[in-house]
Amino acid sequence: MAGHARQVLERILPGGRLLGIDRDPSAVEVAKVALERFGPAAIVVHGRFGEMDRLAREVGIARADLILFDFGISSVQLDDPARGFGFRSEGPLDMRMDPTSELTAARIVNQYGESDIERILREYGEERWARRVAQLIVARRPLRTTRDLAAAVEAAIPRKAWPRDIHVATRTFQGIRIAVNDELEEIERGLRAALQILNPGGRMATISFHSLEDRPVKSFFIVESKDCICPPQQPVGTCGHRATLRIVTRHPIRPSEEEVAANARARSARLRVAERI
Ligand SMILES: C[S@@+](CC[C@H](N)C(=O)[O-])C[C@H]1O[C@@H](n2cnc3c(N)ncnc32)[C@H](O)[C@@H]1O
Repeated sequence: MAGHARQVLERILPGGRLLGIDRDPSAVEVAKVALERFGPAAIVVHGRFGEMDRLAREVGIARADLILFDFGISSVQLDDPARGFGFRSEGPLDMRMDPTSELTAARIVNQYGESDIERILREYGEERWARRVAQLIVARRPLRTTRDLAAAVEAAIPRKAWPRDIHVATRTFQGIRIAVNDELEEIERGLRAALQILNPGGRMATISFHSLEDRPVKSFFIVESKDCICPPQQPVGTCGHRATLRIVTRHPIRPSEEEVAANARARSARLRVAERI
């Protein structure tokens, strides 16, 4: 909905330009309308963070002074049953941020092998009951809707082990959604692309919503802020790596109490910032 973009534009005008990127074509349309009043200073394009260097070149932007990533899914995506991200309402097993991409949640739950589903749930959902849930998913095939998937999870996990603070299907849905959208790889590709176009003294900032998203950012910042990344037991450095970033936020910035009171979904957000050397 271009909330951050508006805030940035108000600070870089006159003279600055902003390129907005989203892999969801409907988010691009909404942002274009929201930013209309800024005229040619705001350009919004459909694409992935990992291709930002090419996308920027295509619109005549060679370098950037600020790159802000807002990872994960939006409230608009989550709240639309037709997108299939939510377990509370009936919807198709879709979960694609970009409806033009091929892989859907239906393909994962109905066609992937049980061990691949288990791995997805364990690695991307951090689900302790991954094996049981994968077994039930396979046993109940074909699953048609988000309710079918949620019901399989409910049947797989004994009621006394259901988490108190989140819905029992939250981790399963997160895991499948991350796999459908290749989100963690995409974060790394995005960070590398950002490094290619960030000006010295320019900053990249990332907003993550859970530790799986935050971890690749933290590691990337640590590696890129070091002059040598050889293993510590190696007596002489041979990698030739040179630091490209200076970490600005030793610890991630968390939202204030007032911000969480105004927007409950901000509660798990973490902001990290690094400066290009
Ligand atoms: C947490 S939402 C934030 C939305 C936006 N900041 C706003 O104020 O409405 C994340 C958005 O980023 C998009 N997105 C997530 N990963 C992406 C990626 N790798 N490349 C491009 N867009 C991505 C999603 O489609 C979603 O619209």
